[in-house]
Amino acid sequence: MLAYQHVFHAGNLADVHKHAALAWLMDYMAAKPKPMTYIETHAGRGLYDLSGPEAQKTGEAQAGIAAVNDWFDAADPYARALSQTRAQYGDVFYPGSPLIAQAFLRRGDVQDSYHLAELHPAEADHLERALPHARIRREDGPQMALSIAPPTPRRGVAVIDPSFEGKADYDAMPKFLRALHKKWNVGVLFLWYPILTTGVQGAMQRQLRGDWPDAVHSTVRFAPARPGHGMVGSGLCIINPPWGMADRMAWIEARFAALPGGQG
Ligand SMILES: C[S@@+](CC[C@H](N)C(=O)[O-])C[C@H]1O[C@@H](n2cnc3c(N)ncnc32)[C@H](O)[C@@H]1O
Repeated sequence: MLAYQHVFHAGNLADVHKHAALAWLMDYMAAKPKPMTYIETHAGRGLYDLSGPEAQKTGEAQAGIAAVNDWFDAADPYARALSQTRAQYGDVFYPGSPLIAQAFLRRGDVQDSYHLAELHPAEADHLERALPHARIRREDGPQMALSIAPPTPRRGVAVIDPSFEGKADYDAMPKFLRALHKKWNVGVLFLWYPILTTGVQGAMQRQLRGDWPDAVHSTVRFAPARPGHGMVGSGLCIINPPWGMADRMAWIEARFAALPGGQG
C-alpha cells in the first residue's frame, strides 16, 4: 500500500521535530574531516512546494514551519538547510530529509556517500528531479539498507521514516532496527514515528525503549492540524546518538512544550 504522499504534510510540526534533529545531526557528523555514509530508506520526493494545492489544502505547513520559523536563528543547522533550499528554489519551497541531508554532505576532499530508496514511482520521479546527481533506488528501503550494511565508509547515518499507513510498520521497525544494528553497529540509526490518538504506536515505543536504553528517545506533542485529525505528536528514536544529541532534543522539546496545546 503506497497511498501516503508527504506533499500534503511537508513542513508540519512533525517535520519540524524530525528535520531540526536531522539537520543538527548532519552538521555534527560533517564537522569532522572524515567521510560518512548517508542512507535513507523512505526518502519521499525531496522538495515540496508549500504554495501547491496539496499543502494549501491541509494548511499543515502554515501551522508548522511557518509558525515556528523564528525558533531557529540563522546559524542553526536547520535554518541553514531551509535557507539553502529557499535561495535555490524560492521562498515557498521546503526541503525534505534527502535535501536537508544533502546540504551537509561533502563532495570535495572528503567524499560522502549517499543512498536513497523511494518505492512510489511518482515520488521517485520527483526525487530524481530534485536530486539529479543522486542515484535513487526504487526498491524496498529496509531491504536496501540491509544489503548495503555495513556501508563504506562505516561512519554514518540511516534515516528510517516509513509512512506508518498500517500496523505492519509498527511491528516491523523494531525488528528492522535490530537487524540493521547487527550488521552496522556503529551507524547512527534515526527512526521517526507518529504519535496518534489511537495509541497504536504504544507497543512499538515500549519495545524501542526496552531494546535501546541508551538511545535518544524524543517525543513532542502538539494540537492536531485539524479538529479530529489523528496525529497529535511526533517521536524519534536515535540509536548511537553523538555527543550533544540529547541536549539538542531537549532544546527542541522545550520549544514544543511552549506551543498552545504543546508538550515536550
Ligand atoms: C513519510 S514519507 C518520507 C518523508 C521524508 N523522509 C522526509 O522527511 O522528507 C514516506 C515515504 O516512504 C515511501 N515508502 C513507503 N514504503 C516504502 C518502502 N518499503 N521502501 C521505500 N519507500 C517507501 C512512501 O512512498 C513515502 O514517499
